[in-house]
Amino acid sequence: MNAAQLERTLPSTWYRSSEIFKTEKERIFCREWIAVCREEEIPNPGDFLVLDVLGESILLVRNRDGQLRAFYNVCRHRGSRLCRTPEETAALRVALPGGITGGRMIVCPYHQWSYDFNGALVAAPHLTTDTGFRKQDFHLYPVGADSWGGFVFLNLTPAEAKPLAAQLEGIPGRLQRYPLAGLRIGATIRYVVAANWKIICENYNECYHCAGVHPELCAIVPSFREAGGGNLDWNRGIPHREGAYTFTLSGTTARRAFPGLDADEQVRHKGELVYPNLFLSVACDHVAAFILTPREAGMTDITCHFLFEPHEMEKADFDPSDAVDFWDLVNRQDWAICESVQNGIGSRVHTQGFYAPMEDWNLDIRRYVVERIRAFVNDPPS
Ligand code: FES
Ligand SMILES: [Fe+2]
Repeated sequence: MNAAQLERTLPSTWYRSSEIFKTEKERIFCREWIAVCREEEIPNPGDFLVLDVLGESILLVRNRDGQLRAFYNVCRHRGSRLCRTPEETAALRVALPGGITGGRMIVCPYHQWSYDFNGALVAAPHLTTDTGFRKQDFHLYPVGADSWGGFVFLNLTPAEAKPLAAQLEGIPGRLQRYPLAGLRIGATIRYVVAANWKIICENYNECYHCAGVHPELCAIVPSFREAGGGNLDWNRGIPHREGAYTFTLSGTTARRAFPGLDADEQVRHKGELVYPNLFLSVACDHVAAFILTPREAGMTDITCHFLFEPHEMEKADFDPSDAVDFWDLVNRQDWAICESVQNGIGSRVHTQGFYAPMEDWNLDIRRYVVERIRAFVNDPPS
């Protein structure tokens, strides 16, 4: 097979250019539903989070009726931030009035315009209707908020958003027997990876690298070593070695399998890439969920949550470390190789790479990105 017969990756510049990254931010991350956190991180009416979503500060709240609502963290008057993160408050060195008060009102620290948890302007000091002032014209800039499987998704251009369910396509069906919404965070590891988000997605989507990069993982899942991962049936689930049934160093665990899994799911492993920024790796007893937050062309934050059944977490001897330690090892191997790619493609001689046939799933990432940004870049690949 010669170079002309192999599929090509995106141009190397697309993984490094800040211009391409800006276009991806606008055309992908600000248009699609993106995963940001778990519902349990904002459980009660009046709870709120200040999120940094690719440089946009977003206020995620749970209103009085328990519904998720999200807004740009920007006052409609003259644009002050409404709420600050604890880090921002520390950096300011002065306490400003305002923010979330009483779990019911969002008060701007500047001139005290106040908004309810649905984003409606409730009061603006000294401005009255007899001056022609109409409060309904000053609703907070909305952000779409929805959830699936216990994950909170945001859409930063809600007026143009399709329903979340339409974006998720067949994923909920393929994972229907896993109790995703009922799982809880048992451990979290946050990573900063010096690699473009697409390199991390492409690495997640192929197992050609597994034999070389993940010896411990291949000891549990020998089929990752076979045929460069080309024969894996992810829909049915990936088989473990004899006697193993989950992603831990021993391949076993004291935790029970999720009730309701079919016979394959009790002993096989499944994975999904929920475009554009959530990876789900599901075992019979736990889920590793990776939320990617791209920071810049060559830098990506990854929050890795390990999800378990409350039934197991309530036990006095609950210990997630068999899964967490194993995943942390595998993750670090992945991030190191992704950073190596980011470094390598910066070479002046490397203009484009190739996909081997067993990396076919990466054609889908290439398609996904090109479809969304080709009209907005110079010289898109054909
Ligand atoms: S900028 Fe918010 S009230 Fe003036
Ligand atoms: Fe890997």
